[in-house]
Amino acid sequence: MKPINVALIGLGTVGCGVFQNIHIHQQRLEELAGTPIRISTIVIENPDKHKKIATKANVTTDINDVLNDPEVDIVFEAIVGKEPAFTYLKKCIQANKHVITANKELFAAHGSELKVLANENHVKIGYEATTAGGIPIIQTIQQLLKANQVQEVQAILNGTTNFILTSIRENNQTFDSALNEAQKLGYAEADPTNDVEGFDALFKLMILSDLIFKKLPEPEYIKRIAVNEVTNDYVNKLLADNKRIKHIATLSYDSSGNLTAKVEPVAITQEHPLYAVEGVNNAVHIKTDIVGELTFTGPGAGAFPTASAMIEDFCRIIEKEQSAIPVI
Ligand code: HSE
Repeated sequence: MKPINVALIGLGTVGCGVFQNIHIHQQRLEELAGTPIRISTIVIENPDKHKKIATKANVTTDINDVLNDPEVDIVFEAIVGKEPAFTYLKKCIQANKHVITANKELFAAHGSELKVLANENHVKIGYEATTAGGIPIIQTIQQLLKANQVQEVQAILNGTTNFILTSIRENNQTFDSALNEAQKLGYAEADPTNDVEGFDALFKLMILSDLIFKKLPEPEYIKRIAVNEVTNDYVNKLLADNKRIKHIATLSYDSSGNLTAKVEPVAITQEHPLYAVEGVNNAVHIKTDIVGELTFTGPGAGAFPTASAMIEDFCRIIEKEQSAIPVI
């Protein structure tokens, strides 16, 4: 039987997490696919910086090794920034390869275009890992909430800032030392500006907006306030009032019917559904017209949670035809 050949683009924290998990769970994945699975190509940017790994794959700096290889079926993309990721993914899709991405900046800007392109080329596109780390929120909304209309989203979408705010409150750590720890733990981006200034959460909110409302808010209805102004004194003052500060992303319609998106530090009380979401965890609280309110929570950053989301997308693509669910 023809094996499934996989290519990885990027071998940083996330790419390594995917590499490791494909190996750790190879048997389970092969049972699901009904055929062997092989990592055939790994594209890296800088041979001097890349972590040496034991692999028989072709480790290359040339994306053409993936694009021109008809044997590569599925491409995992785990690099940072819109380019060259957008060009790579477009070309992979046009070369009839399924793609799985963790790149939120790219997907916030070009997700809808890539979805159309994938559809036209009869390949699948997985982007679970772009939003809320290991929480399977994309597939849940896509697959399990088809009749429910989501009316509002309130979420914590950045693991780094939630980790920092929790560390300031619980350990009286300074902002900078908590950020430093988040970087060491592989939560923060290499350049953490997007984390602390709320761009990262906003990218994820745009991805949810496109998925749920099939459109993005107009620029004048998008508000973003960074979290790096939050001081230890302020956090301690809130604590005395039993309040916690969280960097909350909200997507909703205002009273005039305009879709609005906000990412801002908010002081919340115990009754708030996001109050207990601590450390690197993310959460997505949604209001729908049938079920009412739902909250999904779990690890929002780090190698394995992000790899988990990518591997679940992979499973959806490789799963062999399943017979109907047996009726008991
Ligand atoms: N830097 C991101 C975060 C990684 O802290 O949430 C996951 O997207």
